[in-house]
Amino acid sequence: MSLSRLLPLFLLLSLIVLCGCEGDEGPAGVAGTDGTDGTNGTDGIDGNVTCLECHNTDLQNSISLQYDRSQHAVGEFVEYASAVYSSCSACHAGNGFVEYMETGTIDGQLLNPSTIGCNHCHSVHTTFEIDDYALRGTDSAPFRSDVGHGDTMFDLGDNSNVCANCHQARTAEPNTASPGDTFEIASTHYGPHHSPSANIYEGVLFAEIPGSTSYPTVPFGHFDADVTCVTCHMGEYSDGAGGHTWHPNINACTSCHSGSTDFDIGGVQANTAALLADLQDLLEDQGIIEFVVEDDAWEPIVGTHSMVQAQAFFNWIGLTEDRSLGVHNPPYVEALLLNSIEALTPVN
Ligand code: HEC
Ligand code: HEC
Ligand code: HEC
Ligand code: HEC
Ligand code: HEC
Ligand code: HEC
Repeated sequence: MSLSRLLPLFLLLSLIVLCGCEGDEGPAGVAGTDGTDGTNGTDGIDGNVTCLECHNTDLQNSISLQYDRSQHAVGEFVEYASAVYSSCSACHAGNGFVEYMETGTIDGQLLNPSTIGCNHCHSVHTTFEIDDYALRGTDSAPFRSDVGHGDTMFDLGDNSNVCANCHQARTAEPNTASPGDTFEIASTHYGPHHSPSANIYEGVLFAEIPGSTSYPTVPFGHFDADVTCVTCHMGEYSDGAGGHTWHPNINACTSCHSGSTDFDIGGVQANTAALLADLQDLLEDQGIIEFVVEDDAWEPIVGTHSMVQAQAFFNWIGLTEDRSLGVHNPPYVEALLLNSIEALTPVN
């Protein structure tokens, strides 16, 4: 619970305590004079007009249909992730997310994990103003993988903080987790987890291997232009994308990138794909990854590797699974890939 919500409760409690200590009530004072009548100005707004702005059947129906087209509604890993390991339910189960956001922890295994739905991201109103979408998780918060290391916070400056609670790395990069010359990759599942978009957007907590490309020191231009998760992934709905489908659509870009017909703006996606392929070849040649036919996936080879190889692997798998191909932060992604490639390239 945020401090702002606790404050009224605290004031109320202090009032009760103060009243409790009072002696007998004194006599009532004289009645005050009547107030002056109001002037005949403009009519007030109907009490329910602001409510109907959002709570109207057309909008609610259209949002429900959009939501049904989203991957959130699929909830592919709800049962498996939540019933087996409680640590998964904060992101994979809607009710787990609510418990985590409201109490800061998951109190053991959830037996009834539910798909992420309306009342998990949405909570109850606080101000009832037109921009009060009754959301939870809009505050800034620590990146989980950095708790106990640098305690880096995320703050995307708007409702996108809701997304960042789940779409972030779960694991610190190798040299932060266990500094040294070597690093043990202990499992074929090793990596930052499947959706480190918030880390990439903020340009933090990937393995910043030193090299000839410098890492950006200021946020990418999208941040100053107020372009965040919500801008790109919840633009106006059309053709099965935008709004509550959370699939980005090109209409969310063209107001600034006029004339663009796909997301490969400035060739960023093509460049990123090429760099990821180069890095993959190096990792394969050096025995860090292999293709596992049964899993139909590239996986790390379990064992002890040099620190820089483990870091380069961490960057490769995280930037691959991000799947925006650089769009989430073009200069940060390019610097990570160029320096990883440089570090693994043998000098003749
Ligand atoms: C800016 C849009 C918006 C406005 C304006 C708005 N609401 Fe909401 N309200 C929402 C959203 C979004 C939710 C959560 C999702 C849902 O149930 O549709 C919600 C949820 C609620 C809930 C909880 C429903 C539940 O299932 O728990 C109540 C009660 C509510 N609103 C009442 C009101 C009232 C009364 C007003 C006017 C004073 C109002 N709202 C104005 C967007 C709005
Ligand atoms: C409670 C945690 C949680 C929150 C909050 C959340 N997501 Fe997700 N998101 C997930 C999970 C888990 C999946 C994968 C669901 C599945 O595969 O069934 C997912 C899937 C997605 C996908 C589809 C990925 C694909 O495989 O195609 C997009 C896009 C997405 N989320 C964007 C967002 C955005 C934008 C926000 C903020 C408005 C957000 N998410 C908020 C957990 C969350
Ligand atoms: C910090 C939030 C978070 C936690 C904690 C978390 N996940 Fe996830 N996980 C996600 C998100 C978000 C996605 C969706 C990624 C996407 O579709 O782009 C995902 C995707 C997955 C996938 C799908 C991978 C694929 O190939 O599509 C699996 C499997 C998975 N998680 C398993 C787990 C398990 C098991 C745990 C607990 C041990 C766990 N997750 C904990 C956020 C989390
Ligand atoms: C993954 C999190 C998430 C889920 C699930 C979700 N919402 Fe939302 N919703 C948001 C966010 C974030 C915004 C604010 C977008 C913005 O800032 O522009 C929002 C905005 C809204 C609004 C007001 C803005 C508008 O689009 O007119 C309504 C109404 C609403 N949601 C209803 C719903 C309903 C109904 C459902 C279930 C069918 C739902 N939401 C499910 C995250 C979510
Ligand atoms: C500048 C626009 C932009 C911003 C900001 C942005 N995204 Fe994306 N995101 C994209 C594009 C474009 C893709 C690739 C979609 C494709 O190729 O179909 C993508 C891909 C994704 C994916 C992979 C699944 C998919 O739909 O392909 C997830 C999950 C995701 N973004 C979540 C987020 C989250 C969470 C944030 C905020 C931390 C965020 N994005 C910020 C544009 C953006
Ligand atoms: C509100 C305006 C705005 C919107 C909307 C917007 N962008 Fe941008 N975008 C910018 C600005 C400003 C820059 C330049 C930032 C810089 O160079 O500092 C930029 C740069 C980029 C770049 C780097 C281009 C290059 O030549 O290096 C990519 C890629 C990009 N945007 C993708 C997207 C995508 C994809 C979307 C929609 C899903 C989108 N943007 C929506 C303002 C926007």
